Amino acid sequence: MVVVVKKADAEDVKILSKKLLLLLEDKQSQIYIDNVVKFGIPDEYVKKAFAEETLQKAITKGNSAIYIAFENGKIIGFAQTIKQAADTAELDRIIIFPAYTRKGIGTQLLNHVISDLKENGVSALVVYTGKNETQARRFYEKNGFELIKEATVDTPWGVKLDIVTYKLCL
Ligand SMILES: CC(C)(COP(=O)(O)OP(=O)(O)OC[C@H]1O[C@@H](n2cnc3c(N)ncnc32)[C@H](O)[C@@H]1OP(=O)(O)O)[C@@H](O)C(=O)NCCC(=O)NCCS
Repeated sequence: MVVVVKKADAEDVKILSKKLLLLLEDKQSQIYIDNVVKFGIPDEYVKKAFAEETLQKAITKGNSAIYIAFENGKIIGFAQTIKQAADTAELDRIIIFPAYTRKGIGTQLLNHVISDLKENGVSALVVYTGKNETQARRFYEKNGFELIKEATVDTPWGVKLDIVTYKLCL
């Protein structure tokens, strides 16, 4: 399987948004369960988060970037980063579409993100995930992230979540 990763431009973001909104319409899908149901996120938040306008704003604002993994020109996963300070970025999300997980693609995508951030002077990458997100936690731990904090937070949609913070020095 030949996987190509690139930083998204406006055209990529348009396709990504369409694809995500379509995938998330299937309420039985793994992607909907993993990213929406598990965190009790209301539909309107999800629709807004993945709306084309939101994603276009993210890549043009300057402090955020989207990276896409393609196989034969087809999107199979993506990651989004947000700069928190001159030397620190947050991995806001990384998602490999269900049919493509556990094949090393998440790691390949993450490595691409890391080299790009390093080129831009970033030396620390942090990520927040659910305390019970075993798969995501193993993925981060396997990739060298260190657990630095555990907390219970109030989400904007009114649900309390137990979250953990991981950090990777680049
Ligand atoms: C987490 C995620 C991005 C990992 O991507 P991936 O392409 O499947 O990961 P890789 O194949 O590169 O796996 C690297 C390592 O992570 C760990 N890992 C990944 N998926 C795992 C799983 N389902 N169960 C246990 N460990 C897992 C393993 O240690 C794995 O190494 P191994 O296969 O040699 O044992 C992907 O599973 C995903 O999109 N999950 C749903 C969304 C999500 O939870 N995103 C993170 C929070 S936004």
